[in-house]
Amino acid sequence: MRELSFVVQPGHVLGLVGPNGAGKTTTLRCLAGIIPPSAGTLRIAGHDLAADPVGAKRQLAFFPDEPRLFDYLTVRQHLAFVARLYGVPDHEALAQPLLEELELSGKADQLPSELSRGMKQKLAIACGLLHSPRVIFFDEPLTGLDPLGIRRMKDSILRRARAGATIVLSSHLLHLLEEVCSHVLILKQGEKIADGTLANVVAQFSNGETGVSLEEIFLRATGGSTAAP
Ligand SMILES: Nc1ncnc2c1ncn2[C@@H]1O[C@H](COP(=O)(O)OP(=O)(O)OP(=O)(O)O)[C@@H](O)[C@H]1O
Ligand SMILES: [Mg+2]
Repeated sequence: MRELSFVVQPGHVLGLVGPNGAGKTTTLRCLAGIIPPSAGTLRIAGHDLAADPVGAKRQLAFFPDEPRLFDYLTVRQHLAFVARLYGVPDHEALAQPLLEELELSGKADQLPSELSRGMKQKLAIACGLLHSPRVIFFDEPLTGLDPLGIRRMKDSILRRARAGATIVLSSHLLHLLEEVCSHVLILKQGEKIADGTLANVVAQFSNGETGVSLEEIFLRATGGSTAAP
């Protein structure tokens, strides 16, 4: 990654887009405190990630592209365990609506091995949202969900942003991203190609045309289209 710098404000949803290998997952892993940046600083809800990692991590949730679960804990036990880790009081009152929102209430006593891929993803999301994070990072949150799951996930992202959460998500599903993002950052080979509101980034690569899709903008910006930027 080269000199990547950006700010996401509370209430904003930033779509991180770019070709395979552009550095989206690497960026999100740095933001989540999993890998240190080679230089520079990261601030999460006012906490410096290097100087105050616990303070920063209390405020954030990171959902990796492959959900990581505990083989021998049921759905309900996952939530109880995460609640203890984060010191969430009265977690059952929070867990039940989350399970309903994510359509897992009928699966509360099942183990991950008994869940489908999409259900595992939903369980990982329920675990990550239990401590009411103010900053949420999603790596490919819509991949693997069914159409109703995608709609609910979009609604859930928008509802949390409206409630003041700061959200960054990576996705290749650009037509879906267009419906949830207020801002877009385009990466290519570790470098920022464009960054701004969705409307401004679209305008930047539209050559005065109207109604150009984010997919076409992506192709133009990353060199996949013959149209000049
Ligand atoms: N653990 C690692 N060790 C070394 N290099 C890595 C590692 N993970 C990723 N990379 C490299 O870093 C670059 C960016 O990878 P990254 O996974 O961030 O891309 P991405 O934008 O998320 O791509 P995709 O759309 O395929 O998910 C790639 O060149 C990749 O080979
Ligand atoms: Mg990735």
